Amino acid sequence: MYPRLIYDLTKLRQNLDAVSRTTHEGGCSMMVVTKGVCADPRVVELLISHPGVDFLADSRVKNLETYAGKARVAGKKIVLLRLPMLCEVDDVVRCADISFNSELTTIAALNEAAKRADVIHNILLMIDLGDLREGIFFQNEDQIFHAVEEILKLEHIHLYGVGVNLTCYGAIIPKNDNLSQLVQIADRIRSRFGISLEMVSGGNSSSIYLLGGNDALAECRLPEGINNLRLGESFLLGNDTAYETKLPGTCSDTMLLEAQIIELKEKPSLPIGEPGVDAFGQKPVYEDRGVIKRAILAIGKQDVEPGSMTPTDPDVDILGASSDHLIVDVIRSKIQYGVGDTLTFTLGYGGMLKAATSPYVEKTYR
Ligand SMILES: Cc1ncc(COP(=O)(O)O)c(C=O)c1O
Repeated sequence: MYPRLIYDLTKLRQNLDAVSRTTHEGGCSMMVVTKGVCADPRVVELLISHPGVDFLADSRVKNLETYAGKARVAGKKIVLLRLPMLCEVDDVVRCADISFNSELTTIAALNEAAKRADVIHNILLMIDLGDLREGIFFQNEDQIFHAVEEILKLEHIHLYGVGVNLTCYGAIIPKNDNLSQLVQIADRIRSRFGISLEMVSGGNSSSIYLLGGNDALAECRLPEGINNLRLGESFLLGNDTAYETKLPGTCSDTMLLEAQIIELKEKPSLPIGEPGVDAFGQKPVYEDRGVIKRAILAIGKQDVEPGSMTPTDPDVDILGASSDHLIVDVIRSKIQYGVGDTLTFTLGYGGMLKAATSPYVEKTYR
C-alpha cells in the first residue's frame, strides 16, 4: 500500500556504527533519540541490539512506553528528553530511568511519584546556554545552586547530571566556549555540594562536529568534561546539524518515501480567478511555467513536509501541497508517468518526522 516509508535497516546500522565510533572515541557515551522515527519498532530493535547505544531517549512518554521494558533487559537506560508535564509524572517514573528537568515544582511531583512507585528517579538538570529553550539560564548561578540544594533534599530523586540543548530554538551553534560554561557549572555544583555528577550532556547532533579530532581548531573541540551526546538526526540522516555537512561514513538515503499518482493532467501553472487564501490560510505565490504536466500524489501536509522532501527523479519539481494532495510538475521528466505509478522521495528532518508519525503512511523495511 501507498504511501509508504521504506527504512533501510542496513544503512541505518551503518550510520549508527559511524556515529557510535565518533562519539565513543571522543570520550562520550551515546544517547540515541527515537522521536525522529516515532520510535519505530524495527529501528528500536536495531538500537537495543547495538553495543554502542548506552541510552535510548524520546520526547514522548508514549514512545518510551513501547520499548522501555525490552531496552532495560538489554542493559540500556531510558530517558525522557522533554521536560515532564505535571499530569504525566507517574508514567515518567515508570517508563524513564532519567528525565530532563528545569522546574522545582515538577521535580517535587516526580519525587512524590517515585515515592509512590518505590523507585529512585534520576534527573538531568537542564541549563540554558543561550538557545532560549529549556533550562535554567546559565547566568543565574544562584538559581542553579538553589535548584540543586532543593533537589538534594528529595529522597526519591537522584541528580544524575546537567545538560544543555542547542541549535533547536535559537539555532545557536555549540562551541568550545559555550559548552565550557556547562562544564564549569557542573564543576562548581560538584565542589559546592560535595556530590558527583555522572553526566554532563553536551547537546544533540549539532555537537558531533566538535569530535572532529585533535586537528580541529581549539574553538571547535568538545571541552573536556562533557561526557555524553544525544543523537537523533546524525544517526537517522547522517547530518551534522551545526554546519549542515554530511558526517563521514554515513548515508542520507536511510529511508525513502513512496507515493502514488492519482491524477496526471496538463494544466496551466497559474490558478485562474480572484486569489484568496489556500487551505492553510496562506496567500500562495505561483511561478508562471506555462502549461505543465501536473501529477497529484496521494499524500499531503498531514503526512509530510513538502519543503523537506526531494524527488529521486531529478527532473520532477514539487509545486506545493494541501492536506491530502501533493502536486508535482513532471513535464521535464524522462520517465512517462501514468496514474498508479509512484514517485520516490528522500526526506529531510521535518519530512521524516511527519511521515514517520503519520498513521496513513505504511512503514516497510529493506
Ligand atoms: C533535548 C533534546 N536532545 C536531543 C535531541 C536530538 O536532536 P538531533 O536530532 O538534532 O540529534 C532533541 C530533539 O530531538 C532534543 O529535544
